[in-house]
Amino acid sequence: MANERAKRTKWVVGNWKMHGRLAENEALLRALLQAGSVTETVRIGVCVPAPYLAQTEALLRSGPLAWGVQDVSAYAHGAYTGETAAEMAAEFGATLAIVGHSERRAYHGETSEVVALKAQRALAAGLTPIVCVGETLQQRETGATQAVVGAQIDAVLDTLSVQELARIVVAYEPVWAIGTGKSATVDEAQQVHAFLRARLAAKDAGLGDVTLLYGGSVKPDNAEALFGQADIDGGLIGGASLKSHDFLAICMAASTARAV
Ligand code: PGA
Repeated sequence: MANERAKRTKWVVGNWKMHGRLAENEALLRALLQAGSVTETVRIGVCVPAPYLAQTEALLRSGPLAWGVQDVSAYAHGAYTGETAAEMAAEFGATLAIVGHSERRAYHGETSEVVALKAQRALAAGLTPIVCVGETLQQRETGATQAVVGAQIDAVLDTLSVQELARIVVAYEPVWAIGTGKSATVDEAQQVHAFLRARLAAKDAGLGDVTLLYGGSVKPDNAEALFGQADIDGGLIGGASLKSHDFLAICMAASTARAV
């Protein structure tokens, strides 16, 4: 609804995945610092590979852009070789942590229960978890989309308190749209967002205001239409977040998109 929608700030977050090296990161981050007045109306962030947190902090520290990581451990500390604790990322000024990205679920066997624990650890460290959910092509084609994303979000709803849930961001990322150039249509995306918002609000009415991002082949030319949908509060951007011109154009689309 237009009124409720007006309360929610737009977000655009880049997910660099395993791309970038020192020199490229510096050029990209310096270009993003030119975002200008769009940062007054849109929350902009980048989720970088963990080794580059210090570099990102040094470059973004005094500006309006947020930064974070693409995964955190489900544990605070201990014998978990190779993992990054949310508290470690927070020490480098991170405020965001993607959890449950479909690539983590598919290639690292993360269950929705583990994803919920990761979201809880991120919150405990003061980070905003961006909890990703989404169905595969086969699941969509067999009509299982709501059952799949419903079960994924329910694991989080069952594990976190209402107070914790009020601080999460959810990203709907259909697996078939990620990195394929084939975005969901605005109607397909809006339908799932409305479903997710209703599921959150069913737990507690206040959770109907949780920020819901769309991810999956968002580009400058489809961003404004997607972000103009009533329940889409911005985007989680993969490929296009590596090109400053495209990423900034998507941020601009978030600031000009109007609810339909
Ligand atoms: P894409 O990736 O924008 O390259 O499709 C989105 C994501 O995986 O977060």
